Amino acid sequence: MPPPDVRAKVKAEVAKLADEEADDDEVLAELKKMGKAVLPAIREEFLAATSVITRWRLMTLMDLRGHPDVSVRMPTFGFTDEEATAIAKYFWIRDQVRGVDVYPHTYMAERDVNRLAGRTAILTEVNRDIVATTKACQACHWYDGKPAPGDALASNKFAPDFAIMEDRLRPRWLQAWLKKPSVVYPGTTMTEFQFPSDDHRTAVIELLMNFRKLKGLK
Ligand code: HEC
Repeated sequence: MPPPDVRAKVKAEVAKLADEEADDDEVLAELKKMGKAVLPAIREEFLAATSVITRWRLMTLMDLRGHPDVSVRMPTFGFTDEEATAIAKYFWIRDQVRGVDVYPHTYMAERDVNRLAGRTAILTEVNRDIVATTKACQACHWYDGKPAPGDALASNKFAPDFAIMEDRLRPRWLQAWLKKPSVVYPGTTMTEFQFPSDDHRTAVIELLMNFRKLKGLK
């Protein structure tokens, strides 16, 4: 949930929107004015109802659940949790690799407790120096309900919470994403991080895929 000052600002914008007889284009234009938090690609992505990231971003930004009038004005966007999960599942199943993925019980080596047991040193290191520090990932990412420091409405600061990733992302996708975000999602504001080694990148993925279990790692 955004801090109170952000919520007040957003509520004022939402109230303005509710006063206007606007069509989708005007609504989108208004949303864009709310800050750089809404990407230019919002129209294609969000109207096509395919982007979990964008949905998360808007839901959090606008605190939509508390504003029934907003879902009336945005009928195509008002997913329930069940609908959002169904959409995520659809893509999960559609994009699975035959013989490798078995929804929802795909074996992921990155979650193997025996493997993790031998990785404590590097996991602790990447947690401290990369994932759980505002000097790296947390400069932009929410972390277990906490926003990144600074202007939470700035687009590059409004990055998804690490706590919501382990339930829906695949390690192989994370490898590609963390190697070069701009190839996976052209136009993303996520910067390419220079990991000290490939193994450090893999350790970050292990942390993300076991977030609930490992977030307290010291
Ligand atoms: C400059 C800001 C910034 C930094 C630094 C950053 N990210 Fe991101 N990240 C983003 C944004 C923004 C998104 C959402 C994609 C988008 O909208 O462009 C994102 C998306 C992601 C996603 C996909 C999330 C999902 O739920 O689908 C992962 C995983 C991720 N980042 C991991 C990391 C890790 C790990 C680091 C540190 C090594 C990091 N990011 C550093 C801005 C950042």
